[in-house]
Amino acid sequence: MTIALILLATAAGLLALALWWIRRQNEAFGYANTGAKRVGAGCEIGQRLLMASAGEGGGGAGAGGSGGGVRPKRRKPSGPSRRAFLRNSMAIGWLGVLGGFGGATLAFLWPSLRGGFGAVIDVGNVDDIVATIREEQRPYEFPQGRTYLVEYDPALDPTGEYAEITGGAPLMALYQVCVHLGCKVPFCEQSQWFECPCHGSKYNRWGEYRSGPAPRGLDRFGVEVEDGTLRVDTSQIIEISRQTSALEQPPEGPSCVDG
Ligand code: FES
Repeated sequence: MTIALILLATAAGLLALALWWIRRQNEAFGYANTGAKRVGAGCEIGQRLLMASAGEGGGGAGAGGSGGGVRPKRRKPSGPSRRAFLRNSMAIGWLGVLGGFGGATLAFLWPSLRGGFGAVIDVGNVDDIVATIREEQRPYEFPQGRTYLVEYDPALDPTGEYAEITGGAPLMALYQVCVHLGCKVPFCEQSQWFECPCHGSKYNRWGEYRSGPAPRGLDRFGVEVEDGTLRVDTSQIIEISRQTSALEQPPEGPSCVDG
């Protein structure tokens, strides 16, 4: 979200700069036009006076032969000047650049707007997810939400540590990122724990801290079930202290990483 704000602020700054530049060019062009009109008007008035005087002396001019008459000047073509054309082209170019930048910003934000990571995401049918976890004997991985879903049994959580964030769902959503320095934490099928390959932090099946430099348990997201569909709210991270230890689960086999 911070990056999005920076992008929007930059786009606004560029837009303001472009508007300032266009206004400045318009002002300069307006002054030039004003001057041109004055000159044109002056010439036109002078021209009319000359034509009038020529008409008054008319006879003379007409009679005096062809050399005495005043010919009206030709008007310049009224289309846009080259300068105006270049100015407009540059303005259109600026608008094109800003449009592209705005489009890129929208593309960046679009996943959140349409329910990607950072929003509430529909994962799928709860019963199907639970069946998959039991069959594969590993967490259900949901890459779109950067989430592991693990089965949650309230009977194994007598103090109700996770009752609120699971909201009655038989599943709990763990953020896949290690709380130490941000590596993705894989699940070790041998030990049935999460074990970080970067510095060896380990977490049990519910993501509770067990060993290593991690300052707390794996972060998690709130979930809810509606019409049998599980939804994960990835807009807000929920932290679990290092001391939280509801699940009694020693490693069920050898570790995948040392430490
Ligand atoms: S990033 Fe996982 S232990 Fe350091």
